[in-house]
Amino acid sequence: MTQTQQLVVLIIDDDALAIRKIEAYCASSGYRPKHVAPTSAGPEMILPLQPDLILLKVLPAALDGALAVCHALTTHLPLAPVIMYGAAPDTSALQQSMAAGARRFLTAPFSRETLLRAISETRAQTQHAPSAALPATVAAASTPASVAGVEDSSKRGKLITVFSPKGGVGTTTLAVNLAVGLRARGKRTVLVDANITCGNVGVFLNINPKSSILELVLSGYYNDPRMVAGHLLQHQQTGLSVLLSPLQPEQSELVTPDHLRAVLTTLQDQFDYVIVDTAASYEERVLAVLEMATTIMVPVAPDLAAVRNLTAFLRVSKLLGHDPEKVQLVLMRANSVPPAHVKEIENYLSRPFDHHVVSDGRRATEAINEGTPVVLRHRESRLATDLLALVDRLEGPLPTAARANAPRRTGWKGGLFATSSGQGTGRPARESVLESQPVAFA
Ligand SMILES: Nc1ncnc2c1ncn2[C@@H]1O[C@H](COP(=O)(O)OP(=O)(O)OP(=O)(O)O)[C@@H](O)[C@H]1O
Ligand SMILES: [Mg+2]
Repeated sequence: MTQTQQLVVLIIDDDALAIRKIEAYCASSGYRPKHVAPTSAGPEMILPLQPDLILLKVLPAALDGALAVCHALTTHLPLAPVIMYGAAPDTSALQQSMAAGARRFLTAPFSRETLLRAISETRAQTQHAPSAALPATVAAASTPASVAGVEDSSKRGKLITVFSPKGGVGTTTLAVNLAVGLRARGKRTVLVDANITCGNVGVFLNINPKSSILELVLSGYYNDPRMVAGHLLQHQQTGLSVLLSPLQPEQSELVTPDHLRAVLTTLQDQFDYVIVDTAASYEERVLAVLEMATTIMVPVAPDLAAVRNLTAFLRVSKLLGHDPEKVQLVLMRANSVPPAHVKEIENYLSRPFDHHVVSDGRRATEAINEGTPVVLRHRESRLATDLLALVDRLEGPLPTAARANAPRRTGWKGGLFATSSGQGTGRPARESVLESQPVAFA
C-alpha cells in the first residue's frame, strides 16, 4: 500500500450529495475519505479518526462557526492541514479563514482535478514546512540562515527595483529584459512581479501561472527559503526564475508590505539579482520595495506629464531618505523627441539621464504579444542593444568574443493570442518551439 493510499481525508459537511461527490474524488485517487457532520466536529469526535487532511465546508451564514471549528482543529491536530470550501468568499472571509489556520479556500463547486491538486499541494507544503506543528511566524523566525546556503549578508544578491511614477512608460518591458539579460550572463536571477494588483510579467514571459506570491503568502511559510523556492516558476527558454503576482486581483490585498519584505529578503539570499517590477503608485507595498532596493531604475517618457511625475518622485525619494546614487533614470523612447528637448528636460531636472532606450513600439509590443522578450525575440535590434546595455551598466561590458554567445533570436512561431495549450501542465500557455532550440545561456 502506498503512502497516498493510506491518507485519511476527513470531510466535514452535511450535504449528502456533496459528500458523495468528494468521497468519490478522493477514493479515485487512493485517499481514504471519512466524514462527520459539522455538528459533531468537535476534537473528541475527530481525533480518533486520525485524519491526515481535513476538508471543512463553510456556509456564508455560518462562517463564525466554521472558523471556530477550524481553529480548534488546527490547535488539536496541527499536522492535519485544513482546506475550507464553500461559496466564493470575500476578502474578509478569506483573511479570517487563514487566520483561523486554514491552508486554502476552495470555491465550490470544484472539479476532481482542482480538489486533488489542492490536496497534494497542501500536503506538500505541510511536509516541507520547517515545523508543521509551529505557527508560521515562529517557524519562520527559527529557520536558520544556513538553509539558504548564505550566512554572510555581504554576499546577498542585489535588489533592482524598476519603478516609474507614471504608468505605461515601459517599466515591465525594462524589468523583464533586464532580468533575462542578467540570466543570459549566467547570473542567478529572479524576477518578482510586485505589481501586486495588475501585474503581467507572466504574459510578457508566456509563463503558465501555476502559482504566485499569493499562494506563497497563504501557505504561511513565506519566510522559508524552501517554500519560497517552491513557488518560483521557471522561464523555460532561459531558466530565469519568476515569482508572479496574484492571479485574482480581488485577493491581492492579502499580500502586505511585510510579506513582500520577507520574500524579497529570502530571495536575496538565494540569487545574485532580484529584479522587481512595480506598479506606478506610492502605495505601501511599492514604498517597501523602493526602500529595500540596491538600485532603483526609473523609466521615464520624454513628455511633460512623465517629467512632472518624475520631479515629484525625486522629491519623495529624497524625503524618504533614499541615497540619490541608487536612483538611475532611464529615458525611454529617447529618440522620439529632438536631442535639444532631452537636454531641456535634463536641465529642468538638474541631472542627466543615466541611460537611453530607443523608441520601437512595434518590436516592444510584438514581444509582449508573443510572450518572448525583445532581447530574445529581436536580439539584433537597437531596442535590444539598448536594453542589454543596462546589464552592462550593472555587470560591466561583455568581452567581444563572449558577445557571440549572447542570447539569440529563436524560431518562435506562436501567433498573437495563440490558444492556451499548456494549462496545468507546467508548460507555457502559448505554444512554443523554444524548448527544442536551446539558446546560449550559461
Ligand atoms: N522603448 C519603447 N518604445 C516604444 N514603445 C515601448 C517601449 N518600451 C515599451 N513600449 C510599449 O509601451 C507599452 C507599455 O509597456 P509596459 O507594459 O512595459 O509599461 P509599464 O510601464 O509596465 O505599464 P503599466 O503601468 O501598465 O504596468 C507597451 O505597449 C510596450 O510595447
Ligand atoms: Mg508594468
